[in-house]
Amino acid sequence: MRTVITYGTYDLLHQGHINLLRRAKALGDYLIVGVTSDSFDKERGKLNVRGNVLERVEAVRATGLADRIVIEDYVGQKIDDIQKYEVDIFAIGSDWEGHFDYLSEFCQVVYLPRTEGISSTMLRARNQRTVRLGIVGTGRIAERFMSEVPCVNGVDVVSAFNPRKGEADAFSLRHGLSSHSDSYDVFLKEVDSVYIASPHPTHYEYVRRALLAGRHVLCEIPFVLSGREARELYELAGARNLVLLEASKTAHCPAWTHLLVLAKSGVIGDIVDVKASLSKLMADTSLREFDAAQAGGAMSELAPLCLMAIVKLLGIGYKDLRFYTKMCNGVDVFTKGEVVYGSSVASFTLGLGVKTEGNLVISGTKGYILVPSPWWLTNYFKVCYEDRNKNKRYFYAYQGEGLRYELQEFVSMILGGRMSSYRLRRRESVAIAEIIEEYRKGKNTIILD
Ligand code: CTP
Repeated sequence: MRTVITYGTYDLLHQGHINLLRRAKALGDYLIVGVTSDSFDKERGKLNVRGNVLERVEAVRATGLADRIVIEDYVGQKIDDIQKYEVDIFAIGSDWEGHFDYLSEFCQVVYLPRTEGISSTMLRARNQRTVRLGIVGTGRIAERFMSEVPCVNGVDVVSAFNPRKGEADAFSLRHGLSSHSDSYDVFLKEVDSVYIASPHPTHYEYVRRALLAGRHVLCEIPFVLSGREARELYELAGARNLVLLEASKTAHCPAWTHLLVLAKSGVIGDIVDVKASLSKLMADTSLREFDAAQAGGAMSELAPLCLMAIVKLLGIGYKDLRFYTKMCNGVDVFTKGEVVYGSSVASFTLGLGVKTEGNLVISGTKGYILVPSPWWLTNYFKVCYEDRNKNKRYFYAYQGEGLRYELQEFVSMILGGRMSSYRLRRRESVAIAEIIEEYRKGKNTIILD
């Protein structure tokens, strides 16, 4: 008996898949089909898959061509499967030509002709409305964001806004956009959603006007600088059935979302202490980060990600806040904050003029989780116990600039009519704005010389 194995995602199963399975089956007597798990697809950068693993397995089973179906969940599994199931032939579509030659050490490798003119990507695009996104503010972060957009299905950047016409012109030209404007009202007419990447103090007004015009909003951090403004904007979005999402990139990356469920499942017992640090030592003090008029400073620049981690892990019911801060020309170049809860405490250390180590440490009654620097670009963490033999390491992909993950969630919320994201609830985003506001009011703050 000759055993053949083949692998794929098989999302929105189509004729190309069926032809491939038929051709693979014809190579032998027994066909094993490996279907990728949801987490494996995410890990290798396939963010847009529609069907979950159960649906995709069912679709493959329904073809009647597979004698056995296995789930592919990790890099290197193909070699394991080939040996375990005593496979004679590994078959895959010709789009992978050459890619799997290394398997010929274990079995015969056959590249089968691919069916032209159809793919899951095409079907996803065909069945889906495309979100017309506009970019507000055309600075450094907007540039990074643009490089991530092609990784997400169902969204097109169609316009850019900057009140300085020359900058809107140049950005639009660089990225081949069909329109751009220095008038916000004109710009809003061209789009059905916006990504706000303008200077911090402008966020509130741009978000408000976009919502009033019926546009969905993804807003860079810091979202807004007061709890009242945050609440008002979420209420406005809610009343108009619009998506409003704080672009807290770490909240959406695969490693962080898994860390969170592990921590919440009690792998380190009750969480008693969270320590997050984030610093960005910048030599050029003429940048926005050092400009008080643009709400620069370590707290507004860097606190949102640390506070996201804290409120996700310990909640929004804190009892007390304390801050220690070092100022230079009207902005904080270093701030240490303590968020005190009934039975736990969190602290964060931020620096624009002071370098910190950039780790996240979550301590619990049974063990601790360490996310080494840069923890906010999470791709690796370890769970540690008193008995070091029980320690476990977790590795993930953190692809590109990481902004694709938040954009993917934003687009999926719009297309699915989902107003709230479990990755960052509105009330959590409000709590982050409230804590930043308390600091800006100078409450419970010790100024260091
Ligand atoms: N395949 C094929 N002909 C097509 C599409 C896919 O022969 N038109 C084959 C692939 O070469 C692979 C298997 O079907 O061997 C599973 O591919 P998969 O990646 O799941 O499908 P795609 O349609 O290529 O998916 P995507 O567009 O998401 O890359």
